[in-house]
Amino acid sequence: MPADATFVIVAAGRGERFGRQSKVLATVEGRPMLAWSIDAAIHSPSVADLVIVAGDHTIEDIRNLAREFPNEPGIEVVPGGETRQESVAAGVAAVGERSGIVLVHDAARPLVSPDLIERCAQAARDHAAAIAAIPVTDTLKHVTDRRIERTVSRDHLWAAQTPQAFRRAALVAAIAWARSHPASHTDEASLFEAMGQAVAIVEGSPMNLKVTHPEDLALAGILLAARIAGAMA
Ligand code: CTP
Ligand code: MG
Repeated sequence: MPADATFVIVAAGRGERFGRQSKVLATVEGRPMLAWSIDAAIHSPSVADLVIVAGDHTIEDIRNLAREFPNEPGIEVVPGGETRQESVAAGVAAVGERSGIVLVHDAARPLVSPDLIERCAQAARDHAAAIAAIPVTDTLKHVTDRRIERTVSRDHLWAAQTPQAFRRAALVAAIAWARSHPASHTDEASLFEAMGQAVAIVEGSPMNLKVTHPEDLALAGILLAARIAGAMA
């Protein structure tokens, strides 16, 4: 596997639903949440280096955390923006031209694994754009004012996760396109969709959950502990 990828971790959010600005540094299974994603990236053969996008409120702590990791692969910490989209753009700008593949990952998903990172990187090499996602398993209801209007078919519905992986040139072009077509895109894949470009799916894992609310942290801790104990991949 060529080490041709930069792993960009967006960690500049304000954790409003979590109730703490430093969500990405909250302790989970004995370490700051962000450390788990750094660790997974470091153990991924495709990853040549990392860029971490930090907020004003956490950049010093994140720089200190980055220093606790080995010098190779290199970790650069850069300031983010007001929205996730701006933070991704800041991270991708910091990649420069050194990598052919860029993976964008949310620090709020500490259960990402090297295996998932590798499969996303390979799908980006093969298809230019690819994201981790899982098929929806719950029965979905369309609700207005807390009353069900109808059941929505699950057929064809997948829930997007990160990493989202791209050939760098394609991602840079998509970010430039978004500047001239302002709209709120919650992830990078939606930029490609808006441009009419194909995005491949890599099967993620239900374990790769996003820590949004405080109770998600406890669940992430249980899953990380089980993974360390060898109970799951
Ligand atoms: N993020 C970012 N820059 C922003 C907003 C979000 O880098 N301006 C990052 C977060 O740090 C997180 C990821 O994007 O790792 C996904 O965002 P989310 O889970 O929504 O985290 P927050 O935006 O921090 O939480 P909230 O929306 O509840 O404020
Ligand atoms: Mg947010």
